[in-house]
Amino acid sequence: MDKIKIIGGKELCGEVNISGAKNAALPLIASSILVNGKITFNNVPKLMDIKSIRLLLEDLGATCKTSKGYLEVDASFINKIEAEYDLVRKMRASILVLCPLVARFGHAKVSLPGGCAIGARPVNMHLSGLEALGASIRIEHGYIEATAKRLIGNDIYFDMPTVTGTENLMMAASLAKGTSVMRNAAREPEIVALADALNKMGAKIQGAGTTIISITGVKSLHPADIKIIPDRIETGTFMVAAAATGGDVFIKDCVPDHLGGIINKLKATGTMVETFKDSIRIINHKPIKSVDIKTLPYPGFPTDMQAQFMTLMSIADGNSVIHESIFENRFIHANELLRMGADISISNGNVAMVRGVKKLQAAQVMASDLRASASLVIAGLIAEGTTTISRIYHMDRGYEAIEKKFSMLGAQIERIP
Ligand code: EPU
Repeated sequence: MDKIKIIGGKELCGEVNISGAKNAALPLIASSILVNGKITFNNVPKLMDIKSIRLLLEDLGATCKTSKGYLEVDASFINKIEAEYDLVRKMRASILVLCPLVARFGHAKVSLPGGCAIGARPVNMHLSGLEALGASIRIEHGYIEATAKRLIGNDIYFDMPTVTGTENLMMAASLAKGTSVMRNAAREPEIVALADALNKMGAKIQGAGTTIISITGVKSLHPADIKIIPDRIETGTFMVAAAATGGDVFIKDCVPDHLGGIINKLKATGTMVETFKDSIRIINHKPIKSVDIKTLPYPGFPTDMQAQFMTLMSIADGNSVIHESIFENRFIHANELLRMGADISISNGNVAMVRGVKKLQAAQVMASDLRASASLVIAGLIAEGTTTISRIYHMDRGYEAIEKKFSMLGAQIERIP
């Protein structure tokens, strides 16, 4: 298995381009199931998770053509409505095929995603929403089986905002008979991107990006060309890395408007953040000031940036309280940071007290999930000596060519096969 080797201590300087967003691409690619025809996608990131959803669609009978940054999905000839365990277990976001399959074919059988390293991650709100739209649902032998002749529009209230839940049900309601109103919906930019794409395919969705989304179902959707939005978490990761190592980094092809929570906190650390139409410049030559963060649904501070920020706080001047409010087990990286000399204690499972230290020390560490791996890369970039990170298959799920991008910025980082 590949490892990442980093010799820390270099300031990052130069320009970096941001790739298409994994968490926007996954629901968009799943949405092609809704269409009897071809959907084309541009700015598709080259990631393991994208390969996983493509293989899942191909297993269902869709035809996929890919070349650099481009994917064409033709779901005209889907001949299977079952997403098997072996494909779903590799990526929980496979649950995103459930609603499109039921909406278009009236029947779906999808392996129930289990928990993962960061939490139990149930899908009860996806299922109760689908039931509200008239589907009957059974869970047997680890599979969700949902049937509905045609889904019927209805009101859906989410107990808490769920990103993939909102996306799944938005796809279901797009082909339902009548109007659905989703309340307490998630507001992430990826939800807006999906609504825009579905509307381009002929859906009638209003209110995406707010907590109330209204969807008037249509009989069918049609082919469209979709461009994937830039990855706000990859952008945030480079922003935090630039602040942590010091230096001057110009981040191109991003959407600063999607990064308010991160920009606000980075500025509070004393980092200079300049925003332009589709780029961000980060300059930092001073010690980092500590700040407290609490992860929240968008537009709050994203849970997907908590691990990277913890690394930054580990070398800050002062103490920082980090409160993880979305997932119950998203501090596994803290134990690896401790091995690199950080001073972190965790109480009640979801509150971390990070006492800044002057320097981190290089060590052999292990990635436990996607964003944890990014936090360890940043730790390696600032630590004295040579850090090696194992289990980087987690990182390959969601960061395109991360070691190449960092080495273009002057980092001493390489992948060791
Ligand atoms: N939840 C429930 N029941 C449900 C659905 C969610 O209790 O039916 C809970 C979850 O356990 C969690 C909270 O609601 O406590 C929010 O979870 P959400 O459903 O919003 O998460 P998700 O849709 O499974 C997406 C991203 C995650 C990101 C979260 C939160 C994708 C493919 N995944 O997951 O991304 O952390 O939203 O923003 O969009 C990552 O990219 O590293 C990643 C984990």
